[in-house]
Amino acid sequence: MFQDKVQVLWNRKIGPLYYKIGLGCGRGIADADPGQFIMLRLSGRIVPFLRRPFSIHRLIRNEDRTEGIEVLYRVVGECTQKLALLRPGDFVDVMGPLGKGFRIPDGVRRVFIAAGGIGVAPLLFLAFSLRKKQIDPSGCRIFLGGKTKTDLLCGEDFRSLGMAIHPTTDDGSSGEMCFVTHPLEAAVRKEPPEIIYACGPPGMLKCVVGIAEKFKVPCQISIESRMACGIGACLGCAVKGKELTEKYLHVCMDGPVFDAAAVEL
Ligand SMILES: Cc1cc2nc3c(=O)[nH]c(=O)nc-3n(C[C@H](O)[C@H](O)[C@H](O)COP(=O)(O)OP(=O)(O)OC[C@H]3O[C@@H](n4cnc5c(N)ncnc54)[C@H](O)[C@@H]3O)c2cc1C
Ligand code: FES
Repeated sequence: MFQDKVQVLWNRKIGPLYYKIGLGCGRGIADADPGQFIMLRLSGRIVPFLRRPFSIHRLIRNEDRTEGIEVLYRVVGECTQKLALLRPGDFVDVMGPLGKGFRIPDGVRRVFIAAGGIGVAPLLFLAFSLRKKQIDPSGCRIFLGGKTKTDLLCGEDFRSLGMAIHPTTDDGSSGEMCFVTHPLEAAVRKEPPEIIYACGPPGMLKCVVGIAEKFKVPCQISIESRMACGIGACLGCAVKGKELTEKYLHVCMDGPVFDAAAVEL
């Protein structure tokens, strides 16, 4: 695991509340799996005191070398407001990669990905990993949902990987006016995929898991919880497990990616 102060390579605004920040932490992070996260702290600042968790959005590659990671974030509070003010050359403290990421079973060819809002953050890295495993993108579909059109992120990135995109918004400002789970369920009913991956708000995940159970499709979900340490020490991120042997699971160590059947949502 890597922990160090790393340089900000860029920090670009991509929407009213969304930014992509490039962090120069190649060493130690090159083997990260999609779905793993970092704990980030603003260098030289007392407030906010605690590190904050952010998914790895993408590895920054230069030919065969990993030179850093990109994080996609939404400004919601103290840390992310300050993060948005950083400039190239500033430093942040990064610890990672942490947790368990998405697993890609051998032999899968038909893959559905469901993303709700900022939940898309770890899913682009997953899409790159599917390509690296030489899974034909024409067999993969991404269901991209947001409250409004400015919450629909990364459509072009997925499209450039050759994946079919199904955009939806709650207010109909872009794509179909419905929840992202509607076209997902219709597509699963028509021809079920071999696996569904999802990340988004709890209500959406619950619905995705319901669809996966109904059509008996394996499903992995990335879930969020408030985190203080990110390494299993504070027990602040516990969620209820479904197995009696594992009554509580920790999002930071056992997740954030879980088999849908393993956690109580
Ligand atoms: C494993 C993991 C990966 C994450 N990846 C990303 C990512 O890639 N991009 C991104 O923008 N965010 C991500 N998050 C959420 C991110 O950690 C929080 O948005 C961040 O900690 C907010 O910090 P803040 O100081 O700006 O806001 P705070 O002042 O701490 O909080 C502001 C508001 O956001 C709410 N909030 C804070 N954290 C969470 C959370 N984890 N879940 C739900 N609500 C929360 C608070 O309740 C409060 O209402 C991830 C969280 C987890 C657990
Ligand atoms: S965040 Fe501390 S135990 Fe998970």
